[in-house]
Amino acid sequence: MPKTNNRKNEHVSLSEKFYDKGDSSFKDVSFVHHSFPQCDVKDISLNVTLEGLHFSSPFFINAMSGGSAWTGKVNEKLALIARETDLAMATGSVSAALKDPSQADTFRIVRQTNPNGLVFANLGAGHGLENAKRAVDLLDADALQIHLNAPQEIVMPEGDREFSEWIDNVQSIVEGLGVPVIVKEVGFGMSRETVELLESIGVSLIDISGKGGTNFAQIENYRRKDFKLDDLEAWGQSTAVSLLEAQESVSQASIIASGGIRRPMEIVKALALGASVSGLSSQIMHMALDDVDEAIMALTNWKEEIKRIMTLLGATSVSDLKQTDLIIAGETAEWCDARNID
Ligand code: FNR
Repeated sequence: MPKTNNRKNEHVSLSEKFYDKGDSSFKDVSFVHHSFPQCDVKDISLNVTLEGLHFSSPFFINAMSGGSAWTGKVNEKLALIARETDLAMATGSVSAALKDPSQADTFRIVRQTNPNGLVFANLGAGHGLENAKRAVDLLDADALQIHLNAPQEIVMPEGDREFSEWIDNVQSIVEGLGVPVIVKEVGFGMSRETVELLESIGVSLIDISGKGGTNFAQIENYRRKDFKLDDLEAWGQSTAVSLLEAQESVSQASIIASGGIRRPMEIVKALALGASVSGLSSQIMHMALDDVDEAIMALTNWKEEIKRIMTLLGATSVSDLKQTDLIIAGETAEWCDARNID
C-alpha cells in the first residue's frame, strides 16, 4: 500500500486497517426455520431489475475508489472482479476528477476494463446538475449515486459546513439527469423521515448505507492527531435499523442495503428486511487487495450460497424474501420499540 499522504489512498488503507471491526447489526436478525421449503434450488432466480438497471445477482460493489494513482489501480482490480462475476459496480466520488482532469483515468479505467457492465458514477450532494452530467459522461455510467455524508464532512477539519443546498441539488439532478439516480448514505444510515423526504423530491432508488461496517467518523479522526470528534464515531443508525425505518415509510422507491454486509447470509438478511439489492464495500475491497482471482472465485460461490439459503427460506425470487419470517432482537428490537416500528 502507498505511504503517500493522500486522502483517497488513506480511505482505502484505513478501511482495510479497520476491516471487520464494525459491529454488524445482522446478529440481531434471525430467520425462523420451516421444515418444508416447498421449492427446488433450480427454481431460484437471483435477477433484480430496478429502474431499468438489470442486476444478475442481488449484490454489487459499492462506491470506494479512484482519485489517485493507487486507487485507480484498485479500481481496475474491482472492475475486473465486477466483469468476471457480472456484478454491478460503483466508483468512488468522481469529484476529484472534475476538479483535476489528470485524475479522470483513475475512474475511466472502470469502464475500460468492463465495457458492458453495469457501472455507477458517484458524486456528493454538494454538486449540481452540470457536474452530475459530467460525472455520468466520464464513465458512460448507467446510473449516478449521490452520496449524503454530513457526519463525515463535520468530522473533517477541511470538510463542508454548508448543507442547505443539498435537497435542491438532489432534486434538480433527479429531474434533469436522464439516467437513474441512487441517493446513498456512507455508513451512517437513514431515518424513515429521510426516506420520506427523498421520495417526496422524486428519488426512487435509496441506499440507506448504515452503521456496522466502514465508519468514516473513525477513519477521519484517525487521519489526524488533534481536533478529533471522537463522540461522532457512534453516530448514526445501523443497517438493520435503517432498513426497518425505511420499510416503515417507503411507498414507491426501491431500497438498497449497505453498511457492514460481509457474507451471503447478511446479503439475504438485508433483502429479507426489505432491500432489493445489497451493496458491499470494505468486504470486497479486502478481497480485492488480497487476491483478485480468489475474490472472483469466492464471489461466484456466493451466488450459489445465496440460492441455497433462498431455497431453505422457500423464496424463489429476491422479492419473495420480503415475506420470510424473521425475529428481531437486541438493540435493533429496542430501537424499533422506541420508534414504534412494527
Ligand atoms: C467508501 N464509501 C464511499 N461512498 C460514496 O458514496 N462515495 C465515496 O467516494 C466513497 N468512498 C469510500 C472509500 C472507501 C475506501 C470505503 C471503504 C467506502 C462508502 C461506501 O460506499 C459504503 O457506503 C460504506 O463503506 C459502508 O459499506 P461497507 O464498507 O461497510 O460495506
